Amino acid sequence: MLTRQSLRASRRTLLQFLLSSPLLLAARPGAALEELVETIARCEPDLSPAGELIASPADAINVFDFRAVAKQTLSPGHYAFLATGVDHERGLHANRAGFGRFGLRPRRMVDVRGLDTATEILGTQVSCPIVLAPAGMQTTFHPEGELAVARAAKSTDQLQILSTLSGKSLDQVLEARGAPVWFMLVTPRLWPVTRFQIKKAEEAGCNVVVLTTDYVGFGSQDRLRRFRGPGDPFPSTESRECQSCHGPSTGGRIGRILTAFGQDPLEFASDALTLDWDYVDRIRDATSMKLVLKGILTHEDASIAVERGVDGIIVSNHGAKQMDNSLSTIEVLPEIVHAVAGRIPVMIDSGFRRGTDVFTALALGASAVCIGRPYLWGLAAFGEPGVEGVLRVLSREFETVMRHMGTRNVASISRDFVQPT
Ligand SMILES: Cc1cc2nc3c(=O)[nH]c(=O)nc-3n(C[C@H](O)[C@H](O)[C@H](O)COP(=O)(O)O)c2cc1C
Repeated sequence: MLTRQSLRASRRTLLQFLLSSPLLLAARPGAALEELVETIARCEPDLSPAGELIASPADAINVFDFRAVAKQTLSPGHYAFLATGVDHERGLHANRAGFGRFGLRPRRMVDVRGLDTATEILGTQVSCPIVLAPAGMQTTFHPEGELAVARAAKSTDQLQILSTLSGKSLDQVLEARGAPVWFMLVTPRLWPVTRFQIKKAEEAGCNVVVLTTDYVGFGSQDRLRRFRGPGDPFPSTESRECQSCHGPSTGGRIGRILTAFGQDPLEFASDALTLDWDYVDRIRDATSMKLVLKGILTHEDASIAVERGVDGIIVSNHGAKQMDNSLSTIEVLPEIVHAVAGRIPVMIDSGFRRGTDVFTALALGASAVCIGRPYLWGLAAFGEPGVEGVLRVLSREFETVMRHMGTRNVASISRDFVQPT
């Protein structure tokens, strides 16, 4: 039972949380952008010739071609929101460097005619084990946001995970996708809010709820903060464009987006963002949807998740956007796969940019790989065709690696194909 006082305290806490959100960014060009671009380039070398931008998704050679266009298209503040990690960006670097710790062992003279990349994840059939990770406020990158992504997922027959912080409503997205999406839940520790969101997702037709476990506050977003104006909590609004999204009404607007259902979450606000395993039990028992935990990084937590009857895990460090100095996800994948021992599917994200990366994760025991920034680059660069372009580039690369490795279908990819270097 919520008293008026606890409701007021809860509202204050939620408002503080919302105000610290990276969504509240103003575009503020300057030296910070140059530094950001340099940092990102160090973490993810850009393979496109300097200064050359692709004119259409069909021209893309790899996913970095979309990033180059996104960088030109977005305001510096929005590009910073997309690109940055936290602290010294060691996590961004580690996520890419981790792949260098594994080498592939191809088999020869295998008949790979009729090669098939299709697979199934928790009852969802997909054309390829590459999944669109949840990302908040995709309208930041393109006006069509999550709808463009849904249409691209539909045309390529791939799985979309929709963030609670979606810029478009769940119903709109489901209509655009024409099939169930997985619903990613970020919730304050306040049961009415959690139950409300789960029920809405369930009634809308989602078959899986993905609980994000690392949303316990924001890390030290040093670089991102340089793009915020003075006088936080509300950033300066240097241009009309910024004012339209970051004006004084932002708290309410973002608040409504928090639920993704047009409800004002301040009515339900919580005094805590931290969840615990009992809360996971409560969510599991309150829904017929399958429950997946996103953000697991240790074998200890993976084992508890299995014991608690969770249906799947996404090994993720949030694309290094929450905390720095964690190991790369590809490095921790083996211990988690070992702990889970095939009882539930293990998925993975953070730093996946090539078909080879996807193959490596599958060989180490992952059922599928989620991508975040690459499809957001595509979205920012060209809208729906850009997302589709990114998915086609990565699927094509994955198929090529499967061919080289002598694997005819996803089920035939095993631990025998990879070895630590
Ligand atoms: C702009 C942006 C917004 C994100 N928003 C969310 C979110 O709302 N919920 C969530 O669980 N993860 C969120 N993530 C993390 C992604 O789901 C995913 O874990 C991460 O992007 C994977 O790393 P990658 O970007 O290197 O592929 C976000 C990531 C980015 C880049």
